[in-house]
Amino acid sequence: MAVSVLMVCLGNICRSPLAEAALRQHAEARGLDLFVDSAGMGDWHVGERPDPRSQDVAKRLGNIDIRQQRARQVLVHDFHQFDHIIAMERSNLRELRAMMPDGAKAELSLLLEHMPGVEDLNVLDPYYGTTADFDHVWRLVDAAAEVLAGKLG
Ligand code: 4NP
Repeated sequence: MAVSVLMVCLGNICRSPLAEAALRQHAEARGLDLFVDSAGMGDWHVGERPDPRSQDVAKRLGNIDIRQQRARQVLVHDFHQFDHIIAMERSNLRELRAMMPDGAKAELSLLLEHMPGVEDLNVLDPYYGTTADFDHVWRLVDAAAEVLAGKLG
């Protein structure tokens, strides 16, 4: 059965959609059978497409079309469904730990923990930032997703 990975940020419109797309692309490149999804801690953007700036950077730097993604909120069920739930920043991880039900199978981690040598383990929220901030997020999540795909393979 495919290994499953859920990428999580706050709104599921900026960072985790990019992490989802990057991991799926690296998994495909390696011929890995991975099921990848993303979700947000909050419900403000449920049903929305990724932020236009995330759509733009995925296209420009990753050559990936992420328009078809739709934001959703993390569910308790996800902890039973996914092998790995991977948070973009520590505050997400704290909230995930707080909502983790008994008997959950998911292993929780921070995305950047998977990449050796990174000092700040948070992929910071670019929502109020610039195009350069979105470019930085893409580069970080893409590099981490490549390492992660290697680990999961
Ligand atoms: P994300 O960015 O967590 O990377 O999707 C955010 C998007 C929206 C909000 C916060 C963070 N918001 O507060 O609406």
